[in-house]
Amino acid sequence: MDVLTNIRDVQKKAQQIRLDGKSIGFVPTMGYLHEGHMKLIKNARKENDFVILSIFINPLQFGENEDLDAYPRDEAHDLRQAEQSGVDLVFFPSTSTMYPTPLSLKIAVVRRADVLCGRTRPGHFEGVVTVLTKLFNICQPTRAYFGRKDAQQIAVVDALIHDFNFSIKLIPVETVRESDGLAKSSRNVNLIDQERAEAPSIQQALQYGKKLVEQGETDPNIILEKTREFLEFRTHGKIDYIEFLSYPELEPIETIDCQVILAAAVFYKRARLIDNVVFNDA
Ligand code: PAJ
Repeated sequence: MDVLTNIRDVQKKAQQIRLDGKSIGFVPTMGYLHEGHMKLIKNARKENDFVILSIFINPLQFGENEDLDAYPRDEAHDLRQAEQSGVDLVFFPSTSTMYPTPLSLKIAVVRRADVLCGRTRPGHFEGVVTVLTKLFNICQPTRAYFGRKDAQQIAVVDALIHDFNFSIKLIPVETVRESDGLAKSSRNVNLIDQERAEAPSIQQALQYGKKLVEQGETDPNIILEKTREFLEFRTHGKIDYIEFLSYPELEPIETIDCQVILAAAVFYKRARLIDNVVFNDA
């Protein structure tokens, strides 16, 4: 397994692989790899000739008061995991490699970003699409793998690929969970014991909302209200949002006649957790 920190080296390698007619599966991450990331790598390994993993904590997608400094890191662990799971190349750039000078351009995300995490984290998705545009140009993927835990990220990346005609297939991967249903996240290590015990209630609440729909409830507002009540009763965390929208367009809905997302974010002391269910695939 190669570990490269230089953009030109990765780009040259990727170009050569594509010239040889081989496919590249790309898994972008911010490191501190867990089983969620591993599932992405596993799928990329199955479906491509060559697998590139990037590890880069992208400062551009963190707000002023967010957890950039608290974001966990473990380089040695990550490289071991990558090696064991059959990654061919790890791209591990420094911040100054990725952003040597202030950027002259900015990509505005004008749809799909004014709701859910985009509302609480202004500029976050601009940061995500900016780094991904760079990473796509550097790593030249045939397929790029993203986890459904970050469903809004998938919706925005889907728009990026479509609007700017990247010749890349986006492959969404199911959320990997702990045995009690909590979505695996690098941020889970920042939960104190009581928070960790309560956190599975986020997914439980969303499943409860989905069940209400399956049982015949048709009013999105009632579903939202009951889901919120369910969650407030089970956690001390501060609910950032619970929203019920069309997916992947992320528009408000009055009736449930398309694919929908029910999503929540909860603030704990040192971590903000998100989760979602997407259902009613029309
Ligand atoms: P990061 O949070 O490290 O996540 C990298 C990828 O792993 C994302 O596609 C995310 O959805 C996926 N992932 C995280 N937890 C998962 C889980 N429990 N099950 C399945 N997949 C999971 O998302 C980012 O990094 C960044 O925004 C990035 C795309 C790298 C751009 O900087």
